[in-house]
Amino acid sequence: MKHTLEVMISEQEINQALDTMAEQINRDYAGVDSLLVVGLLKGSVIVMSDLVRRLDGNVQMDFMTASSYGSSTESSGDVKIVMDLAQSIKGRHVLLVEDIIDTGRTLSKVLALLNSREPASLAIASFLDKPTRRVVDVDVKYTGVAIPDEFVVGYGLDYAESYRQLPYIAKVVPSDGE
Ligand code: PRP
Ligand code: MN
Ligand code: MG
Repeated sequence: MKHTLEVMISEQEINQALDTMAEQINRDYAGVDSLLVVGLLKGSVIVMSDLVRRLDGNVQMDFMTASSYGSSTESSGDVKIVMDLAQSIKGRHVLLVEDIIDTGRTLSKVLALLNSREPASLAIASFLDKPTRRVVDVDVKYTGVAIPDEFVVGYGLDYAESYRQLPYIAKVVPSDGE
């Protein structure tokens, strides 16, 4: 599809939202001796690196891959664990980081799986939230920016695997010719 990109959330706005998220997280985990931050690949990789650099205390990182969209733009609902964590989370304080929550299918599936492993606590931080798209109810404790139902890319989010590297979030606008 021929398209253009329109900036929706600037780098500066992203940084402000991250500062607010990190302040809340630092306050909530101030008494905890270690926090395991888990990123869902690939979308979370950018926000993960920006967020952990704002966190205090003993922070550890791990990653897992749970993919549902594939090359389509619509969630299939069939969420697959493609790559699991490298370690046990039993008794750990875990913060799950996502780039976006849309239908909620990915996070609800991953949340159920991680909860079954008996962490000391488990909370979710998602940079973007499309609340009007929710199909499954998920408790997201830390949110950066709520957005309307637009197709967005950048800051980890892709369109057919492209544009993840953009330092801002942009709306994909179809243009003439196709
Ligand atoms: C995207 C996004 C979230 C999920 C949100 O991931 O990064 O993980 O979809 O959608 P949902 O709330 O409807 O489940 P995707 O499956 O496209 O993989 P990616 O992170 O590798 O882009
Ligand atoms: Mn993802
Ligand atoms: Mg994707």
